[in-house]
Amino acid sequence: MKALELEGLTFAYEDGNVALEEVALSLEIGEKVAVVGPNGAGKSTLLHLIAGFRMPFDGRATVMGRELTPANLKEVRRALGLLFQDPDDQAFMPTVEEDVAFGPRNYGLDDIDGRVARALKSAAIEHLARKNPQRLSFGMKKRVAMAGIMAMEPALLLLDEPTSGLDPKARTELVKMLKGTDRTMLIATHDLEAVAEVVDRAVVLNRKVVMQGTMRELVVAKEVLAEAGLELPPVSKLFSVLHSLGYPVESLPVSMDQAVAEFTRVIDTEGKHLHAHIHEHEHAGGDDAHAHTHRGQRARE
Ligand SMILES: Nc1ncnc2c1ncn2[C@@H]1O[C@H](COP(=O)(O)OP(=O)(O)OP(=O)(O)O)[C@@H](O)[C@H]1O
Ligand SMILES: [Mg+2]
Repeated sequence: MKALELEGLTFAYEDGNVALEEVALSLEIGEKVAVVGPNGAGKSTLLHLIAGFRMPFDGRATVMGRELTPANLKEVRRALGLLFQDPDDQAFMPTVEEDVAFGPRNYGLDDIDGRVARALKSAAIEHLARKNPQRLSFGMKKRVAMAGIMAMEPALLLLDEPTSGLDPKARTELVKMLKGTDRTMLIATHDLEAVAEVVDRAVVLNRKVVMQGTMRELVVAKEVLAEAGLELPPVSKLFSVLHSLGYPVESLPVSMDQAVAEFTRVIDTEGKHLHAHIHEHEHAGGDDAHAHTHRGQRARE
């Protein structure tokens, strides 16, 4: 069974605007895939459609082995969690904890308190439990909405711009959390750098599927990037410049971790051995990130 299977998916809004055309896409269980593309490409439309908010459509959509039809809507919805691009579309209960509990309660799931506690912790918003979600900042609302999804523990996560509006620490935490969970996920995003460490592959959407491949294949597909209005993350741009200056770049890094690995590889092949990693430290004064390097002569026969 696949987690998600889309065939010939075509959808037009009431005004005749064709937002999706013949979209075919398949996700294995446990797979993490990014959907990238310019504004208006149809990313949100695609996620809404999979979540059963846009009917009718042409083609077929199957979620966890169940075809998406009006009759199957409830079961399909139970299997997935949709994070809306705009968190204001999501929060409507008087307190954050009630809001996060709403989904599990609505579906009669067990261990509501445990689910809520775990979800609040995963989004690092325990301290907001009794606040009114409508009165929080954009980024905080987004984190509340994310906790609401996680509380359902759905088989398929549909995340629409999960990092937008998050402060750098919250973004890093979210990326860590997404990387650490083994759920299937489809992430619509402009934040290539953030998802580079999370996803197995990327789908470029511009009404149609323009390309599917790994993130590293995507960042070297210049024409696809240009056509889809995408820009390389700064770290990829830097390595692209280094490459044009003669620096031996084997594979264009998309994230900082990949960049560190690329540096390590090059310095290693230059006859020296460099071991570098970036990690968090607890200091009396708070958290701090450092790059540690350890240099030594490589053993030779
Ligand atoms: N409710 C609607 N009624 C009519 N057309 C819509 C509606 N919502 C979106 N569209 C149109 O559908 C197309 C796809 O929009 P969509 O919001 O899915 O794009 P997106 O890829 O999510 O963009 P963004 O990166 O800005 O979030 C656009 O042309 C948009 O104008
Ligand atoms: Mg969108």
